[in-house]
Amino acid sequence: MGILAGRVALVTGAGQGLGAATAREFAHEGAAVALLDINADNVSAMAAAISAAGGKARAFALDITDYAAYADVVREIAAWGGKIDILVNNAAILIYGTIFTDTLDDWRRTMAVNLEAVYMGSKLVAPHMIAQRYGRIVSIASVQGFVSSGDIGAYNAAKGGVIAYTKSMAVELGQYNILVNAVAPGFIRTPMAVVRGVDETTTPDFMEWYVNRGKIPLRRAAEPEEIAGTVVYLASDYCRYQTGSVVVVDGGLTSTF
Ligand SMILES: NC(=O)c1ccc[n+]([C@@H]2O[C@H](COP(=O)([O-])OP(=O)(O)OC[C@H]3O[C@@H](n4cnc5c(N)ncnc54)[C@H](O)[C@@H]3O)[C@@H](O)[C@H]2O)c1
Repeated sequence: MGILAGRVALVTGAGQGLGAATAREFAHEGAAVALLDINADNVSAMAAAISAAGGKARAFALDITDYAAYADVVREIAAWGGKIDILVNNAAILIYGTIFTDTLDDWRRTMAVNLEAVYMGSKLVAPHMIAQRYGRIVSIASVQGFVSSGDIGAYNAAKGGVIAYTKSMAVELGQYNILVNAVAPGFIRTPMAVVRGVDETTTPDFMEWYVNRGKIPLRRAAEPEEIAGTVVYLASDYCRYQTGSVVVVDGGLTSTF
């Protein structure tokens, strides 16, 4: 019996990277997992792999900023699983650009996927949790929600918004035994870390500054499973009195300067 046995979970952006790792870990811990992603091929393959490994999983291909489609999918998941216990707001996009080079369209699309869809997804799922007086909402923020690399302002603003909105939801939903927390990762080795074909966690600059000089005290980027473990904890009944928190999982990155 896993620590999520009998739970029904929804994970956005589950076609690859951290979302896929989270879905796998959830299934391994006994949850029935609905995987949502805009990439239909990836999300089908991930759900099939989880099912083949003996887990319960189902894929849903949609753009989570299409809120009519998102509402339909939430209804389908509740019918499929009989309830929804856990929501992981994980999907996000990263568009590089500074205040000088990015566009209003980049800003708006980033806000839509990375922040507004967190609000709408939570709004769609919360009634199911309120009805059963139980729920866990975990949103993936970033250390860039409070410190900045200097070239992704819209992404950082959205992540700061996710942190603030996590606290608001925790206050609003606590009376229904719905716990709302955020995870703020540092560098993770996922497709998002590949910038213009280069894995930013393996460049000479990364190796010199973050690894050799110890800017990341653990001297490496995280594997997705190492962040997913924290998400599993926050989604589980080991987490019962923690809400409104932002759990930093960055190998010590933001403890140094
Ligand atoms: N990779 C890192 O270094 C890092 C660091 C800190 C935080 N994060 C956060 O972790 C989370 C997961 O990131 P990742 O690294 O796995 O990224 P990723 O790009 O590898 O995966 C993101 C997934 O979200 C999906 N997606 C994007 N827009 C969507 C939409 N509109 N509708 C549905 N699905 C959509 C993508 O298709 C993709 O499968 C994100 O919230 C990201 O901001 C990542």
